[in-house]
Amino acid sequence: MASSAPIGVFDSGLGGISVARQMRVDLPYERIIYFGDSANAPYGIKTPDEVKKLSFSIVDNFVKLGVKAVVIACNTATSAAVNDLRAHYDIPIIGMEPALKLACDLGKGEPQHVIVAATELTLRERKFADLLQRFSQNNTIFSQPCPDLVRIVEQGELNNSEKVMDTLHKYFDAYDLDNIDSVVLGCTHFVFYRDYFRKLLPERTNIVDGNEGTIHHLREVLAERGELADAFSEGSITLTNSDKSERIYQLAQSLCTKTD
Ligand code: DGL
Repeated sequence: MASSAPIGVFDSGLGGISVARQMRVDLPYERIIYFGDSANAPYGIKTPDEVKKLSFSIVDNFVKLGVKAVVIACNTATSAAVNDLRAHYDIPIIGMEPALKLACDLGKGEPQHVIVAATELTLRERKFADLLQRFSQNNTIFSQPCPDLVRIVEQGELNNSEKVMDTLHKYFDAYDLDNIDSVVLGCTHFVFYRDYFRKLLPERTNIVDGNEGTIHHLREVLAERGELADAFSEGSITLTNSDKSERIYQLAQSLCTKTD
């Protein structure tokens, strides 16, 4: 049986909008309630316990709103909270992790040189250590925290190309980029920088993110439970945020319609 209940999608702030806007394309019949926790962003420099607490209060709220599933559109909150959230709630909780597998698979068996750009917390947590262990035997993997890339999005400075390029150079100039096969955008905020990364990186370097894979997984889970919205439903997205300022409202709207 189809379900017309909404799907809750959350992030520490505006980054998860990169996932939600793709959901509008890939799952056009679904109703999406997006919650950005910009008042508490960034999560990437908090402790796992702090992020867990914030995540629980967001999911509690989603459950009160009657969501049929939750997407943690945040690699950081997934690292800190996904296991506990799954143990506590009986609706599907879809998490995200840096798409390292996708990057390594692009090598079709050839050892790859990959940079994973993510938050400090994601790169420090157990979940990422497990990923590294799986893929670092055959590949060379570099972990690069990029906290300023989160701040720039939250401050509405994504169009300041000079500032963005300076920041990218600060984080990536130390690498021999000609020898990097893929850069993984392991934080949903970073997906908004795809065009800037394209300018920074040699043409042969792949830029990989986990957004489509996450949505594909969500679709499979909902289909298996018979809970996809039916094709007569009108999909929608409602953007909400813990920061109630007009600035954040406008920024969220513009990121949601941003094409890149
Ligand atoms: N967008 C988040 C992620 O995917 C985290 C950004 C932050 O708040 O530090 O990891």
